[in-house]
Amino acid sequence: MASEPVNVNEFQELARLALPKMYYDFYSGGAEDQHTLKENVEAFRRITFRPRVLLDVSRIDLSTTVLGYKISAPIIIAPTAMHKLANPDGEVATARAAASCNTIMVLSFSSSCTIEEVAASCNAIRFYQLYVYKQRHIAATLVQRAERNGFKALVLTADTPRLGRREADIKNKMIAPQLKNLEGLFSTKVSSDTGSILEAFANQTMDASLSWKDVEWLKSITNLPILIKGVLTREDAIKAVEVGVAGIIVSNHGARQLDYSPATISVLEEVVHAVKGRVPILMDGGVRRGTDVFKAMALGAQAVLIGRPVIYGLAAKGEYGVKRVFEMLKDEFELTMALSGCPSVKHITRNHVRTERERLH
Ligand code: FNR
Repeated sequence: MASEPVNVNEFQELARLALPKMYYDFYSGGAEDQHTLKENVEAFRRITFRPRVLLDVSRIDLSTTVLGYKISAPIIIAPTAMHKLANPDGEVATARAAASCNTIMVLSFSSSCTIEEVAASCNAIRFYQLYVYKQRHIAATLVQRAERNGFKALVLTADTPRLGRREADIKNKMIAPQLKNLEGLFSTKVSSDTGSILEAFANQTMDASLSWKDVEWLKSITNLPILIKGVLTREDAIKAVEVGVAGIIVSNHGARQLDYSPATISVLEEVVHAVKGRVPILMDGGVRRGTDVFKAMALGAQAVLIGRPVIYGLAAKGEYGVKRVFEMLKDEFELTMALSGCPSVKHITRNHVRTERERLH
């Protein structure tokens, strides 16, 4: 392959060549049979377009807003763990790329740079993703630190009471996370001589009793808007609106949690219909092309998040690689808009796509 990739998928191979097998497997893998991992991508492929012609598309405006923050395109950086395993600059490199692309970065709770390091590195718009450990004071401390350091929203990941079974990590005896933000707060040492040490660590720490009423607790300790990540059903979408979240992220955690969960793009519309515009809906999982971004927008998402493509860009080419990944998706999205007759994101409608179910009827 030429050294300059021409699309986001080509970054994956470069990342594979650049990374030790244990880390590549950790980043790329999904749960169990990896059915959902494939489906997240395949389900996008089953959606086709209903492009409109002879509309003035000489200027295309890709910009949008999320929670009032203007971004250059509806593409946001998803929270993913431990960027220093991909590149020595870790999340600082990712944040700098986000700043130069004028988009939002969601910093993972499991980051390998601290909240303070990322905040000091650049002026990217930052949201903070939260896991809640059995020791609730840890979440409270991190929320305060995120607030103090100018993070604009919290993303509560709701789909991880325990870690999904990732068989490559079990085989590789994947290491415990190096959670920089927890230094001095919590010991990340775990006892497990077999299987994934990461999984053993997560299962010892995560508060599996976390429930909807705890969103109230979270609201009581912060003034930041709270997005809930990991919603896949209309029931939970309605629940999320009832407890007063500021937004919903339709996500199956990049197919790393419950295998045979639906592809996220296939349930986006169910959530959109249930929510009826009361809060914004974002989605992630399997976005690899600008056409995927367009399809998600047409089905009602306000923006998409990208997980693995960012890591692959980071592993292959550091900050520049993350920037290229974003630009590639953005350029493809812009072309898709032009070829579909949409001069701005507001012009993208449900009528611009046809789902498989619609094709069969
Ligand atoms: C994740 N994801 C994730 N989500 C989260 O809320 N907190 C986290 O720390 C992580 N860590 C993480 C690590 C790795 C290696 C991956 C691949 C994913 C899930 C992530 O936010 C997002 O939901 C998916 O990555 C989206 O799917 P794609 O874009 O990777 O297909």
